[in-house]
Amino acid sequence: MSKPHILMARAVFPEVIEKLSQVAQVHVNEDDTVWSQAELVARLQGKQGVFTTGGDRIDQAVLKACPELRICANMAVGYNNFDIPSMTAAGVVATNAPDVLTETTADLGFALLMGTARRLSESEHYLRAGRWTKWSFDMFAGSDIHGSTLGILGMGRIGQAIARRGALGFGMKVIYHNRSRLSQELEQQCQARLVSKSELLAQADHLVLVLPYTRESHHAIGAAELAQMKPTATLVNIARGGIVDDAALAQALKQRTIAAAGLDVFEEEPKVHPGLLEVPNVVLTPHIGSASIPTRKAMAHLAADNLVAFFTGKPLLTALNPDPRS
Ligand code: DGY
Repeated sequence: MSKPHILMARAVFPEVIEKLSQVAQVHVNEDDTVWSQAELVARLQGKQGVFTTGGDRIDQAVLKACPELRICANMAVGYNNFDIPSMTAAGVVATNAPDVLTETTADLGFALLMGTARRLSESEHYLRAGRWTKWSFDMFAGSDIHGSTLGILGMGRIGQAIARRGALGFGMKVIYHNRSRLSQELEQQCQARLVSKSELLAQADHLVLVLPYTRESHHAIGAAELAQMKPTATLVNIARGGIVDDAALAQALKQRTIAAAGLDVFEEEPKVHPGLLEVPNVVLTPHIGSASIPTRKAMAHLAADNLVAFFTGKPLLTALNPDPRS
């Protein structure tokens, strides 16, 4: 029987290509070009599987133009690039890469929180620019992390991992807001207390966003929400661009209605709102939440393992919709 064809929408570790080549004809994206939707559709012709990253959109138009497609495996836990209802209707399997990136992403969330509260980027730029001529009592004085109140919006696996770091490592008081309440056992493990969204905004010294991006969470943090935060508060977004209204945030940072922000994700990635580039009180990273070598390898292998399972008739590892084979 001839092998199925799998398109790699982006470049990935050679060992992953090697693994997929055991079961399929693999079509690689040699120079890691970010294809337009039209280019993606053109390359997907005759392919039964696709290996995607969070930036590759599989929507109704793609599905319609690629009737041979059977499975899309995302090398990301977030899957807002997938139109799941349309994929299900078309009998196309969707998989993501959860769990393997939880701790690494929580580490980055905490790094951003600390860098933001203690003004690391701002002070490093000052030093590198040769402007450091003397010590002074309030030079780059920021806010404390230990003993402060950590607010978490979205309390899935990554939110819980951040809560544990804050409560157990830094003696923070942890409050959270989520669609559903954690079990008593998990609340105890995370030492976290459920509050309303307005309580969260008003009480958090440091607010970390870890919720999925959906129609409902679009601009969950906009001008009105920023106005409810403490003027000394910091905001960290490691979830998805679009959850924060970047223009409103740039304005709040400029006017210092909140103290600072740490952002790993942006509304128009890889473009960054010009207002955010102008203000000093923001730490900016280019969507590197899960970017440790072991974790990126684990994510890529999990996506590949789903493709291998699909094409060898085995159960999927992390399916997001019903498997039409069953
Ligand atoms: C994810 O897995 O959703 C990350 O944002 C990709 O790095």
